Amino acid sequence: MDVDLSGVLLNQFKKAKKEYERAKREKKEMVARRKALECAKLLREMAKYNRYNERMYLEMAEKWELVADNIGEVLNPSKVITSKPKESQEEVDKFKSFVRNNLIQRSKIKWEDIGGLKEVKQLMMETIVISALQRPTSIQPWRGILLFGPPGTGKTLLASACAGSLDATFFNVKASSVTSKYFGESSKIVSALYEVARELHPSIVFIDEIDALTMKRGEGISEASRRMLSTLLTELDGFQDKGSDRLVLTLAATNTPWDLDEAVLSRFPRRIYIPLPDREAAKEIIKINTRGLKLNVNLDEIAERCVERYYSGRDIKNLCQGAIWSMIRDVNRDLYKMANLPYRELRKRKLKVRPLTEEDFEEGFKKIKSPLTKRDIERYERWWEEFGG
Ligand SMILES: Nc1ncnc2c1ncn2[C@@H]1O[C@H](COP(=O)(O)OP(=O)(O)OP(=O)(O)O)[C@@H](O)[C@H]1O
Ligand SMILES: [Mg+2]
Repeated sequence: MDVDLSGVLLNQFKKAKKEYERAKREKKEMVARRKALECAKLLREMAKYNRYNERMYLEMAEKWELVADNIGEVLNPSKVITSKPKESQEEVDKFKSFVRNNLIQRSKIKWEDIGGLKEVKQLMMETIVISALQRPTSIQPWRGILLFGPPGTGKTLLASACAGSLDATFFNVKASSVTSKYFGESSKIVSALYEVARELHPSIVFIDEIDALTMKRGEGISEASRRMLSTLLTELDGFQDKGSDRLVLTLAATNTPWDLDEAVLSRFPRRIYIPLPDREAAKEIIKINTRGLKLNVNLDEIAERCVERYYSGRDIKNLCQGAIWSMIRDVNRDLYKMANLPYRELRKRKLKVRPLTEEDFEEGFKKIKSPLTKRDIERYERWWEEFGG
């Protein structure tokens, strides 16, 4: 059970704030800075316990961090600094090494690992090939492509396949985790990200949950997200890399395209709908996820049931995993008893398998429920008609 610490934290915050005020009056710079940071830290903790006011607390935390960063100015307002000091090379290198160590992934996904989505795959292959080929300067490939659609339909998979097929450097960035973990520094991380991407080209930059940065919902968006977004938009405009032939393709994904504002949409003129699998796609996804096993089932019928239930690719994968487990348990009844054997012994034995049957799939169908409804799908389709391209 979670323990509610918000009251305790609030008291600690009030105390830290009072101490900060005193240090400020007494012009004790070091203490004031430390106390401002303490306030920020406590607010971040409070954000964790209070989902409804999370954003507000995070924004307040960021203000305190700014106070701490500029404590000299806060204590002596007469010393007006007109322009922000330029970041030192050391600082830039720090962010670049953060990017290299945390945001790069190796992708082994190939196009054949993706079921269905034939046209989408073709379009992405074409984009990549155009970017790589020698061509007249008037022909500019897309710098950014937006992938939208329900959860679990293969957006991340497609981005990985782009990188995997090109053997490109793959940067996998979840917008919300950068803003929440690296708050005040998220925009510096974005600049560093693109600098490293250009250095290690060809590169695919995958920005997942891009909606987290833009939300039109009017529910107030944190300063960190705003700054991260504006740096990202500048990078997408490509002024840093004008005329260069290096391939740095940004793929952004969202489950809620209607939350994106005009500033973002205009940078992604290519918007691709990644729908739920149809029957043929469902069949392919089942085959991909049961590779190496025989299927004693009516595949068309199983695929049809997946479509009727609004299953995503992820649901179908889970269905297959469930069926495989049911088969393994059935033919290896004493599996758990072997848990006491040493690893060396286990390596000598072979797992028994048999073809998958309808009954194996039946259990999975009972358990796996898609949260999607016809109305959800219609909403995607309407958006696609209006804004897709
Ligand atoms: N078209 C597909 N072909 C094969 N497998 C798929 C497909 N779509 C989804 N899957 C399976 O589902 C898993 C989840 O897919 P993926 O992570 O690409 O979904 P997503 O669209 O990025 O979802 P989210 O919006 O939740 O991030 C994949 O790892 C894969 O196993
Ligand atoms: Mg994803």
